Amino acid sequence: MLPTMHLNDLLLLAFAFLFLCWWWRRCTTTGGGPKNLPPGPPGWPIVGNLFQVILQRRHFIYVIRDLRKKYGPIFTMQMGQRTLIIVTSADLIHEALIQRGPLFASRPQDSPIRLIFSMGKCAINSAEYGPLWRTLRKNLVTEMITPLRIKQCGWIRKWAMEAHMSRIQKEAREQGFVEVMSNCRLTICSILICLCFGAKIEERRIKSIESILKDVMLITLPKLPDFLPVFTPLFRRQVKEARELRKRQVELLAPLIRSRKAYVEGSFSGSEMASPVGAAYVDSLFELEVPGRGRLGEEELVTLVSEIISAGTDTSATAVEWALFHLVTDQEIQERLYKEIVECVGKEGVVKESDVERMPYLSAVVKETFRRHPPSHFVLSHAATEDTKLGGYTVPKNASVEFYTAWLSEDPNMWEDPNEFRPERFLSGDGVDVDVTGTKGVRMMPFGIGRRICPAWTLGILHINLLLAKMVQAFHWLPNPNSPPDPAETFAFTVVMKNPLKAVIVPRSI
Ligand code: HEM
Repeated sequence: MLPTMHLNDLLLLAFAFLFLCWWWRRCTTTGGGPKNLPPGPPGWPIVGNLFQVILQRRHFIYVIRDLRKKYGPIFTMQMGQRTLIIVTSADLIHEALIQRGPLFASRPQDSPIRLIFSMGKCAINSAEYGPLWRTLRKNLVTEMITPLRIKQCGWIRKWAMEAHMSRIQKEAREQGFVEVMSNCRLTICSILICLCFGAKIEERRIKSIESILKDVMLITLPKLPDFLPVFTPLFRRQVKEARELRKRQVELLAPLIRSRKAYVEGSFSGSEMASPVGAAYVDSLFELEVPGRGRLGEEELVTLVSEIISAGTDTSATAVEWALFHLVTDQEIQERLYKEIVECVGKEGVVKESDVERMPYLSAVVKETFRRHPPSHFVLSHAATEDTKLGGYTVPKNASVEFYTAWLSEDPNMWEDPNEFRPERFLSGDGVDVDVTGTKGVRMMPFGIGRRICPAWTLGILHINLLLAKMVQAFHWLPNPNSPPDPAETFAFTVVMKNPLKAVIVPRSI
């Protein structure tokens, strides 16, 4: 009797063990299988790779940087219930975003908190590929980014740059050095606020807007329930906080919208309105009819102007900070740039917007900055408009497609000494033929490429060029001996200097 029972038990045990192995393999394998997803790191049952990423306690971009080495051009990350398809190779990025652009031009689902701030995806960056996105984006491009409008609003940059130069001079006098990032953020933010509302507002209010939009960006970063909705009840407090923050954002920006509306209608009596009717971005939104929503309400306008101020501030300020880091640490580059500026406008001449277009070395410094320090290592999340294939694998419609773009400009097969900061490469070297719009091929893409390419990248570059040219013409930038420049980076919406650059400035004219 005993031996038979023993055999049955053994058989049962063996069966249970095999089942467990099969179940474990099935639950932990990422990618492959009948769905034909790209392969990926094995995960844990139910949560996939989510906790493996969280437990690493470093930002997602650094996790992906390492995984790319193992999994190559396309791989899957199963983050709880969300499937992320990570695309890292130039060829596949070009295929998806240029050759098959419309198919990969949508955006994935938003989290409940993001939906609060985007008013249900009523923003250019988050709208799905379709008529609403097309109308909003076309409106921005034709009303804010045309060469004519950029020229018409040149006085805004002149005003903000003058304030910037006096502010950094004062700061240097008072504390012995200039903190680059905070000053550039404030200046760019004031330009964008004025472009949006046509109003010159005082610095105190600009700082409040800057600060609240930073809080919005923080609170909309991905959280646990975005991947595992079962945890939603634990995050009720965050949703409540998000609603309160949204209320404060509306309270801060709606009065500016109302004043501008009154100005457009001829009933405004204050003095802050400085742009003629029709020249401010928000003027175009008052009349706009958008598919599926009709005329936009006040809250939607708050979302649309906030998106512009947020999208254009950190990205450009980050680039100026990294460029100045290199100018401070490599005085030869700074002198060559200074020489070009003086040759173009003289030592005392005013640097105008048309002048910076005639400065090839400046342009090379800015391109090299974007290559060496792309402000974001991914573009925004994309989604396919239908189930499709990429690199031989299936990309489901409901997956987030993440294009990891930082690798492009680190790849030694595409760039000579990729870790070196060498602007000359864009004048007579391996960077000469680079096209940042990616139409001919992809070697760097700081603004994205294809349908969702940043609609205002030329404006962003103008802000960076002007800031750099004016600051280098007026001052010699030197390292601060008490806090030497440190190239360590960290993620704060964009990839910024971990220890913000503090530089000593010496007026050139003495
Ligand atoms: C030089 C600074 C800038 C950089 C590096 C930059 C970078 C980017 C990137 C990487 C994207 C995502 C592309 C994608 O998802 O494929 C983007 C989108 C966007 N950017 Fe910029 N940007 C800059 C300046 C600006 C400025 C000044 C504005 C507004 C005036 C702006 C408005 C937008 C908008 C509205 C989108 C969403 C486009 C869409 O989804 O169709 N950006 N930008």
